Amino acid sequence: MGGTEYHLIARGGVGEHRSLGDRMTDPAMANPREPTRSTPPPVRWPRLAQGVGFAFLRRRAMRTWVRRHGHIFEINVPFFGRSVVISDPSLVRPVCTATAEQLVNVQPNLSNWFGPGSVFAIEGSAHRDRRRLLAPTFHGQSLRNYERIIEDETLRECANWSEDQEFRTLEPMNRITLNVMLRVLFGADAVELDELREIVPRYMKLGSLMAFVPVPRFRTGRYGPWHRLDEYRRVFDGAVCALIDKAEADPGLEERADMLAVLLRSGRDDGTQMSRRDICDELLALTAAGHETTASALGWAWERLRRHPDVLAELVREVDDGGSDFRRATILELLRVRTVIDVAGRRVAAPDVDLGAWRIPRHRTVLIRIADLHQNPQIFPHPERFDPHRHGGGRPPTPGWLAFGCGARRCLGADLALTEMDVVLRTVLQHFRVQTDTAADEKAHFRGIAHTPKLGARVVVRRRVQPR
Ligand code: HEM
Repeated sequence: MGGTEYHLIARGGVGEHRSLGDRMTDPAMANPREPTRSTPPPVRWPRLAQGVGFAFLRRRAMRTWVRRHGHIFEINVPFFGRSVVISDPSLVRPVCTATAEQLVNVQPNLSNWFGPGSVFAIEGSAHRDRRRLLAPTFHGQSLRNYERIIEDETLRECANWSEDQEFRTLEPMNRITLNVMLRVLFGADAVELDELREIVPRYMKLGSLMAFVPVPRFRTGRYGPWHRLDEYRRVFDGAVCALIDKAEADPGLEERADMLAVLLRSGRDDGTQMSRRDICDELLALTAAGHETTASALGWAWERLRRHPDVLAELVREVDDGGSDFRRATILELLRVRTVIDVAGRRVAAPDVDLGAWRIPRHRTVLIRIADLHQNPQIFPHPERFDPHRHGGGRPPTPGWLAFGCGARRCLGADLALTEMDVVLRTVLQHFRVQTDTAADEKAHFRGIAHTPKLGARVVVRRRVQPR
């Protein structure tokens, strides 16, 4: 069964795989005598056990299934239904190169939570257009402008860190990345942001737990989690609408570079302007997707550096010398060795797609298991080791390293996240010595979307430079 079928892939070899791309361009693919393709081996556990494994014990369950079936198999789990799980670069590549029409976003996805107006909910040309509208705010010169904001927020946050006392870094990292995100999205540090600073963490905590749970059709009761989510959403929308009113009255709106101004200006002339509802959905999506992920990655940075004195010493030396190459390699390695988002999902919209020797029918979910790709010893020798030197060239292997996903739905904020991690690490290391020791590794804790250090990434620090 599973073992034999997996052998089919191994025998085919990367070069012989007929990918989705091949099928679209190679006339041989239209040949009715084309070899019959198999569907991936199914996991034979009872559906409930598969669901529990996937939802609560994912790492362990996935390891067991990969050992049993190899790097492609099918699970049947609540919410996603029959889902093909892949973790081999040759199978991932065709997913990365598929068009947005062939493979659409996984269903359900985060639009359950953010609403139908965000980039997570839309498909096809509307999705491409929206990404084109959003992207400049997260790239190029904009990033250089944000470096100052990131440094400010880091210094503000660590001004009160106590010395010689172990503390959790996860919450400080969350505050830094949330404040950065709010300033990038809404412009100057307006007082109206205080309400968002207050409500977003509460909304995130509950929302990420409920994100993939289908909304019940009839909601009664005034106290359940759905009611609370609605309440948080009402406060969020109220604060954003107040900021929209203010921006619309701003004579300098045309010159503003923040995302709110970009969304307000979009489509003004051709009548395709976004509704307030869609603007609120999009800003919620970007706030949520853009801060906890980066904060979790930064939490892992302190968790790993505490236990790796050599890497830490090399980073500090480089910071003092004004360099950044080793820091960049360290960030890539952090995102590999402690994968924050472990899965990227798609749904087959074409009649079928071929992944290597396997044929995947329409409506089937495809889950790229990023965490298992990152632990593949053929791509990353001794994958469990935290070794930034493996990224010496500054470019990780694709699609072996896939921390930000790939293709038409690759993370829109990847460059911003890398800049944030770079500036936060540099600023903290300029001002603090992080104490290293042999404490046991922190385990990963799944918060519904991101994987974070279970104990909050605890460290002990001592100030290097006295505040003036
Ligand atoms: C270390 C930090 C981050 C990690 C690990 C991360 C990871 C990811 C991953 C794995 C995806 C799914 C990609 C796919 O399906 O192929 C994604 C999507 C996305 N991310 Fe990030 N992300 C991070 C930071 C950010 C930031 C700072 C933003 C800021 C706006 C952001 C915005 C988005 C958006 C909008 C999408 C959906 C793109 C679409 O559907 O077209 N992310 N991210």
